[in-house]
Amino acid sequence: MKEKNQTELKRSFEGVSRRDFVKYLMAGSALSISSLSKLNAAIYQSISSLNQKYIKDESPDGVYWEALSKHFLFQDGLIMMNNGTVGPMPKPVFNSLIRCFKVQCTNPFDVYNFIPKKKEEVRHKLARFIDASPDEVVMTRNTTEGMNFVANGLDLKEGDEVLLSDMEHPAGTHPWRLKEKRYGIKIIRVPIGLPPKNVDEIVNAFQKAMTPRTKIISISHTVYISGLIAPIKELSKMAHEKGVLVLADSAHGIGMLNLNMKELGCDFFASSPYKWLGAPTGIGLLYVRNEAQDKLWPTIASSGWDSNKGARKFETLGQRADALTVALGEAVDFQNVIGRERIERRIKTLAGYLKRELNKIPGVKLHTSMDPYISGGLTAFFVEGVEPSKIVNYLREKYNIVIRTIGNKEAGTYGVRVSTHVYISFKHIDMLLEGIKHLVRHKA
Ligand SMILES: Cc1ncc(COP(=O)(O)O)c(C=O)c1O
Repeated sequence: MKEKNQTELKRSFEGVSRRDFVKYLMAGSALSISSLSKLNAAIYQSISSLNQKYIKDESPDGVYWEALSKHFLFQDGLIMMNNGTVGPMPKPVFNSLIRCFKVQCTNPFDVYNFIPKKKEEVRHKLARFIDASPDEVVMTRNTTEGMNFVANGLDLKEGDEVLLSDMEHPAGTHPWRLKEKRYGIKIIRVPIGLPPKNVDEIVNAFQKAMTPRTKIISISHTVYISGLIAPIKELSKMAHEKGVLVLADSAHGIGMLNLNMKELGCDFFASSPYKWLGAPTGIGLLYVRNEAQDKLWPTIASSGWDSNKGARKFETLGQRADALTVALGEAVDFQNVIGRERIERRIKTLAGYLKRELNKIPGVKLHTSMDPYISGGLTAFFVEGVEPSKIVNYLREKYNIVIRTIGNKEAGTYGVRVSTHVYISFKHIDMLLEGIKHLVRHKA
């Protein structure tokens, strides 16, 4: 009987119609679960056809990306250029999420036996997506949790030193401040701020700050204030030569960059897949390199903390929202159909265009490097004589473009930040530029 139920559940994860889905959304009526799978299959089929048509070149006129942007669920006219906090879920991810919660509602008991098995599938997918081993993948709830797991889990003594850049997010600072207060470790700040530095300048700054007491470098991979992509590979190489660990806060990295953990070489890497990858909020990634696992204690302990294989021992959190995990797997599938490399290239192409055009506007001061090796989809800038909040409000009112203010006046980092994900077009960027030019012309 149990087996029959399980088979039905498995079946319910496969196949039905668009009409049912629309009916469900419009009227809130019960949906045949398998219809959502059919819907996803149709979306993947349409992207695969596009891939065949535009093999390498995604077409300068944007045909490929315009077609792709239709697979998101934005309100009409909303131009989402802030992938911080939370980015959008593409349709297949939303479908998967609904499908899972629906299955959970219909049969909570058997779901308990079935969905957790999907978790290992997702772990393997995620590992392949970032070029790591499944034994190195922890599914956390977000970057903040990952950063805390590392800061809390390392055995550091009074006087041991942690190097942080001067551009860290609170989630990269406070876990160490807590440890400082509790255990007397020392936090050393390394300036890498503005104007944007190059790879050698950043690596040299950290090298110079090292002492025999330095135990770990904890640095943003994707700097939320300046849009810098920190040279984690070069920093890890330098740090490892001195026996120092590296923790990368890459909240924005997954889904924006074509990640390869082996190449990056850091020991720990925390990320939030609901910013750029399209996962739902509440599911995160922490990579813990095999060689570093013995140095890290689990922060949360339930059965398995001392026996689970590899990084799974950092994940004994009791009941989780398994639908989020399955939806994360779907988000990976969605990006895989497009191609990781293609996504990074498109994001950087859009950002490159935006930066070049901004540079032509009098009074604009870019906070992000022009070098695509150390910049990605986040572009930050300041406009002389125009209050950043005025830019944010004007663009929202006039064009329905969503961006945000960032940084602070005292540190000289105040400005606005723009995200250029793949559903953004050159036309959207031109609208934004037109808005900035208008504000420059009419500054009070
Ligand atoms: C660089 C950086 N680190 C950490 C975080 C915190 O992310 P989360 O709230 O997803 O844990 C953010 C949030 O935007 C961020 O930009």
